[in-house]
Amino acid sequence: MELPIRPRRLRKSAQIRDLVRENSVSLCDLVQPLFVIDGDGEAESIASMPGQKRLTIRQLVQECRELFALGIRGVALFPKLDGSLKDAGACEALNEDTLVLRAVRALKAELPKLLLFTDIALDPYTSHGHDGVLTADGRDVDNDVTVGILCRMAVLHAQAGVDFVAPSDMMDGRIGAIRSTLDAAGLSATGVMAYSAKYASAYYGPFRDAVGSANAAGTALLGKDTYQLDPANSRAARRELLLDIEEGADMLMVKPAGPYLDIIRMARDLTELPVAAYQVSGEYAQIVAAAQLGWLDYGRTRDESLLAIKRAGADIIFSYFAAEIARELGK
Ligand code: PBG
Repeated sequence: MELPIRPRRLRKSAQIRDLVRENSVSLCDLVQPLFVIDGDGEAESIASMPGQKRLTIRQLVQECRELFALGIRGVALFPKLDGSLKDAGACEALNEDTLVLRAVRALKAELPKLLLFTDIALDPYTSHGHDGVLTADGRDVDNDVTVGILCRMAVLHAQAGVDFVAPSDMMDGRIGAIRSTLDAAGLSATGVMAYSAKYASAYYGPFRDAVGSANAAGTALLGKDTYQLDPANSRAARRELLLDIEEGADMLMVKPAGPYLDIIRMARDLTELPVAAYQVSGEYAQIVAAAQLGWLDYGRTRDESLLAIKRAGADIIFSYFAAEIARELGK
């Protein structure tokens, strides 16, 4: 063939491919989510998330010491509370000595440079598992009352030393309210990472097992569609991203990641702010399960899934694979 243009020339050898590669995932980009439990017992495995564990504070500090030494810059903490501490009003969320705050203090005492992100949402604390408190008729989450609680919660987290509070509740107006509450409390150094485009996704299933929010109300399928985004929509995501930029977010998040690459790209093109993406529990579980069945190559699928999220435009990736990748690179 007379073919002057042959793109395959640039894929001819590993060396050329290395030279022309456009994107890569670095350890600097990865944040590991970690689950924490009370007490001094054994770490608990999570059936739907093989390889992930719920750790006691002591184990958490040990794990983070190792991860920080391996080059992980940050972790996101998620508490799993005993059912007896949950109620309809999420009172425990405002307890100064609640599990996640004790974990934050312990980590900051040992590892002051490790970046800590904590979720600002009420789902670990409500008996019904919703991210906010309910209206009097119990049929919806009460937006404004919830935002008031989230603001107080954010102040407690900032005082305990987190680097970024991460509102993941999807209530209207919470980013601006939290920002101004933090500033008024003299906590202007604490950042806000907004879960701006958080979808009502079935991919959160394993996470809800991990923190016990799935059937807190005895219902396996917790519908969060009145606050989380409809998976069919992208303009709605753009609107939420724009609002959070305006309300003062320091970084924006898109969640889930892999099934929402178009939204990550949209966020990247919309703003100069850093864009984070959360490769959620179900994305992790899919890869692990298929690999266990021998249907997918584990390492290659894992790495490709992360690379795709980077290529779509994410600066930061929250991923359950982060710790394992750090360990592999550290070898
Ligand atoms: C709750 C929250 C969820 C996740 C992070 N924060 C689940 C939900 O909205 O029900 C999911 C993370 C994951 O699936 O890995 N505010």
